[in-house]
Amino acid sequence: MTVFTTKSEIQKFVSTLNGKTLGFVPTMGALHEGHLSLVEKAIQDNDVAIVSVFVNPTQFDNEKDLEKYPRTLDRDVSLLKTLSPDIIVYAPSVDDIYEGQTEAQEFSFDGLEFEMEGKFRDGHFDGVGTIVKRLFEIVTPNSAYFGEKDFQQLQIIRKLVDKYHIPVKVKGCKIHRAASGLAMSSRNERLKREYKKAAPFIYKTLKTAKEKFGTKSATKVIEWVKSQFDKHELLKLEYFSIADIETLKPVKRKSNKKNYRAFIAVYADDIRLIDNIALN
Ligand code: PAJ
Repeated sequence: MTVFTTKSEIQKFVSTLNGKTLGFVPTMGALHEGHLSLVEKAIQDNDVAIVSVFVNPTQFDNEKDLEKYPRTLDRDVSLLKTLSPDIIVYAPSVDDIYEGQTEAQEFSFDGLEFEMEGKFRDGHFDGVGTIVKRLFEIVTPNSAYFGEKDFQQLQIIRKLVDKYHIPVKVKGCKIHRAASGLAMSSRNERLKREYKKAAPFIYKTLKTAKEKFGTKSATKVIEWVKSQFDKHELLKLEYFSIADIETLKPVKRKSNKKNYRAFIAVYADDIRLIDNIALN
């Protein structure tokens, strides 16, 4: 298992690939089965797979969150080893990436950045855009793998690649769920017992919302979801939106020609959980 910690090392490695295809999975570490499902896909589709592990400071709008973010590189490397000993890990320092200027570039993602997560996490997508663009420039992959778990992020990366003509294929990967239906997330580990028990209610509600969307208007479905959470004793709804997957804008009038997804953010105690589901 090779772990590189500087961009000169990883670039030197990439320059020896001689036409082999390179699949890339950017992560912030604290790996779980959701991340591993992306890495498996990258291994299947390519000759070489690189996984980056970097807790990106510029995408956090809260200093405490950044401090508290789990850093478990040794464990991450062991987990990756169980998939294949040939995976290359790139785990740079903040200085290696930002060279003393730890700041986000400002982007326009044609409005995608103002919807949903953008309303609640100030500057978050500028930080994501900055790091992913930089990592693409350093690693120069043929394909890069992102989870639909963060569907808004996935669409923003597609926009980034398009706008900056970055020669990488962006592959969206299905949401990996626990048996309970709860979408895998490093935050799940921090849920207290009663909240962990309650959290599968999120996906259960999304599935019923999907069913209802077949026959009812978006407004009616939204009302229904809100009422479900109003009644819930532990889970607090932050937002629920039914949106066009291209623009991420809330649907006004359903059209057969468009594809929609339902997006949700919920607080379980002080832990914020997000999820989404394809509606058609
Ligand atoms: P992180 O939260 O570590 O997630 C890394 C990748 O794993 C993302 O593409 C995310 O969507 C995917 N992922 C997480 N949970 C998943 C699940 N349950 N099923 C499928 N995929 C899942 O997202 C980031 O890091 C950062 O913003 C990053 C893109 C690395 C930039 O810093």
